[in-house]
Amino acid sequence: MNILILGKGYVGNYINDRLTKTASWEQPTKLASVDFESRKQFDYTNLNTLAKRFESKKYDYVINCSGFTGRPNVDQGEDKKELCYKLNTFVPLGVSSMCKLHDINYIHISSGCVYNGYTKQYTEEDEPNFGLFNEESSTYSKSKHAYELGSDHGLTLRIRMPFCDKLHERSVLTKLLNYDRLVNYVNSKTYIPDLVDFVEMIVNKGRSTKTKSLLNFVNPKPLLTVQVTDIMSNRGLCNTNWEWVQFEELNTKANRSNCILSTEKLEKEYEFKLLDEEVAIEKALANISI
Ligand SMILES: NC(=O)c1ccc[n+]([C@@H]2O[C@H](COP(=O)([O-])OP(=O)(O)OC[C@H]3O[C@@H](n4cnc5c(N)ncnc54)[C@H](OP(=O)(O)O)[C@@H]3O)[C@@H](O)[C@H]2O)c1
Repeated sequence: MNILILGKGYVGNYINDRLTKTASWEQPTKLASVDFESRKQFDYTNLNTLAKRFESKKYDYVINCSGFTGRPNVDQGEDKKELCYKLNTFVPLGVSSMCKLHDINYIHISSGCVYNGYTKQYTEEDEPNFGLFNEESSTYSKSKHAYELGSDHGLTLRIRMPFCDKLHERSVLTKLLNYDRLVNYVNSKTYIPDLVDFVEMIVNKGRSTKTKSLLNFVNPKPLLTVQVTDIMSNRGLCNTNWEWVQFEELNTKANRSNCILSTEKLEKEYEFKLLDEEVAIEKALANISI
């Protein structure tokens, strides 16, 4: 089995570490190689470069963990709209088409921030209401929705507000710790060790990810921000400057998605049950030495 991981960022590193270091393969000889690439070493944004690689090596899975996330946050997407669309829409569409052409399983790590509001728990069947067709939505969310509309190959994992067992700068727990002003919403989030368990399961079982499919990949029973900060405080992780404000007071450049995603498809179609969010946060914090 040959696997290509694109994007050496937060999620890419977690997936690469699992597949190369701690995965327990059903057959010991199953994994032949994991090529873990960043754009600087191997320009996967160039379709000719990608085509040459696919012609010289047969991959079983391509896992695309690249994408514009914005620094320090998605507001940057408003200043860099072209780059945001390039990295979140056109590059992954190119990778997906190239995988289709070469009959390779494609897994695309994307975002569930394409909904807003609490009228329901959004399923994969629901048309995004915080995407391309909503002027109030962010360039980031529009670019993620545009990918979903354009792709016709591969499994798109919609993650949200990821967190993990380290105080990584991209983890929502680290972000909460470092923000002084907080807003209180319930939001679906993703425990990254659960995500890597899932990716390991898919490649271990050799499940096909060729057919176009969307999958909400978030932990069930999401909490309010204040419930998360309470758990953090109980574990000794708190910021004495925390102040609760209304979203409008933050003067952000872009609006934000606040929503709950349904995990029914993940549980029924993939028979994959994630930890409830509270349990996942407790587990993450137990592993963080303060
Ligand atoms: N982190 C989050 O809060 C979050 C939340 C929801 C969804 N997601 C999605 O999950 C996927 C992986 O995100 P991540 O957290 O691993 O993000 P990350 O740490 O920013 O890494 C993403 C990778 O994308 C490329 N990239 C990002 N910004 C770039 C820029 N300005 N210019 C050029 N290349 C850039 C880089 O690839 P190279 O290594 O090849 O240079 C980078 O390593 C993305 O699709 C993201 O939208 C993330």
